Amino acid sequence: ENSSNKQFAYRNRLYKQFVVKATIHAELLVSLKPVAVHQSLWSEARLVFSLKPIMEPKLYRPPLEVRGMTSLDKEAFTQTITVPALRVSTGVLNKVVKSLKKSTIQRPGVPRVIQDKEESSDFRLVLLDPHRVSSLSSFSEAEAEALRSFSVAEELHYYELKLTYDNLKSEEVLEAVLPQGQDVTSAFSRVGHIAHMNLRDHQLPYKNLIGQVIMDKNPGVTCVVNKTNIIDSTYRNFKMEVLAGEENMVAKVKENGVTYEFDFSRVYWNPRLSTEHQRVVQLIKRGDTVFDVFAGVGPFAIPAARLGANVLANDLNPESYRWLQHNCKLNKAESKVRSFNLDGRAFIQGPLKQELPALLKGKASVHVVMNLPALALEFLDAFRGLLHQETPTDENLPTVHCYGFSKNDDPDTDVVKRASCSLGFPLENRCSVHFVRNVAPNKDMMCVRFILPKDVLYCSDDEHTGESVQQ
Ligand SMILES: C[S@@+](CC[C@H](N)C(=O)[O-])C[C@H]1O[C@@H](n2cnc3c(N)ncnc32)[C@H](O)[C@@H]1O
Repeated sequence: ENSSNKQFAYRNRLYKQFVVKATIHAELLVSLKPVAVHQSLWSEARLVFSLKPIMEPKLYRPPLEVRGMTSLDKEAFTQTITVPALRVSTGVLNKVVKSLKKSTIQRPGVPRVIQDKEESSDFRLVLLDPHRVSSLSSFSEAEAEALRSFSVAEELHYYELKLTYDNLKSEEVLEAVLPQGQDVTSAFSRVGHIAHMNLRDHQLPYKNLIGQVIMDKNPGVTCVVNKTNIIDSTYRNFKMEVLAGEENMVAKVKENGVTYEFDFSRVYWNPRLSTEHQRVVQLIKRGDTVFDVFAGVGPFAIPAARLGANVLANDLNPESYRWLQHNCKLNKAESKVRSFNLDGRAFIQGPLKQELPALLKGKASVHVVMNLPALALEFLDAFRGLLHQETPTDENLPTVHCYGFSKNDDPDTDVVKRASCSLGFPLENRCSVHFVRNVAPNKDMMCVRFILPKDVLYCSDDEHTGESVQQ
């Protein structure tokens, strides 16, 4: 009864806009309608029945007509909602806004303070978050105290706020458009100006709209692509389809302080590997030599060269090789990197075999990086008997960092077993295994690190049987 008519009307409107979820004991079925709009009854209901109201942020839900839209019509998202506001003198405006940080409206593109049309220019309206503030009693003790101390009138005003497409978040737009009850995703990976998504079948009819929304809502994204499931198994790049924006696939990214440029549709690049690149590069010192067997566009090779290592970097994909050379120049590392466009096995049995004998006589460390997780473990057999014509030495043997995927329950044991089998030498207790990342449910990317055994490098042809290894 003590509510003003205006407040009552506001609550009524709020009731219609909110979805009120209540946990009610089965025997205590109550009619929520009249209760929800009247505060004193509402408190009573809470007291008596322990109802737990949860206000969900449905107030910003776009008009229902947008459901099923496949071509983006931004105008259709425009609506007017009622939000509470406080009338505040300009003299204390900044302090009040600061004190009410948690209660003011927070929407992209919506101002928190607006000109109070009805009053003189000495006052402004501070717009409040309708999910947090439904009456004066919604303010916390500290907020209420601040309002008193700044002599803000204890009265809620109601402001008709026009919300447009620009004020909505991408999830809100997509949730309103895509079929109800089905998974809505606005997740994407960012590679320079390109956002790449992995849409499910039920999202495909909306693919261009999804692309447009992602582009609109993410500054700097000027191209959105969908990664189809077809992976080019040789070069590890995905087939992709442009959903929105310019069809410019040449991306520029920065990883661990190094700049890379490449055609994202024709080479391999994964922004989720930056920590792994850094982890390995940190083990490399000035003067070391690095053989990068599957170098891609250079994320191990170039940082290592910049640290002062001598690098031999190889990739079978002619496009990767081209961008690798480009990135060496871009980062002024070309004097430290020799690049090759060979099959990994040919690289090991060619340039690596040629360089290794001299390096083994030196003091600086030698690293071999093999990041082709789908196949690299199988390439380890290329080291068997590689130097069998040379005089064996124990000194300065190379450290190999070899990657592998595993779907095994015990991925550590699995990758060590497969590496041992390929080398023909048991690596158990002679290597370390690092979990890199989970790439899919039940599929892990691992890195096995070991000193290349002398027995493998110098074994003669008839020892290439791998008999010592249990398969
Ligand atoms: C998983 S990517 C890794 C690229 C880079 N090292 C990185 O960390 O981003 C593997 C790379 O191996 C290359 N590749 C695939 N098969 C190859 C082979 N048989 N010999 C040499 N390179 C190969 C691909 O073109 C691709 O660039």
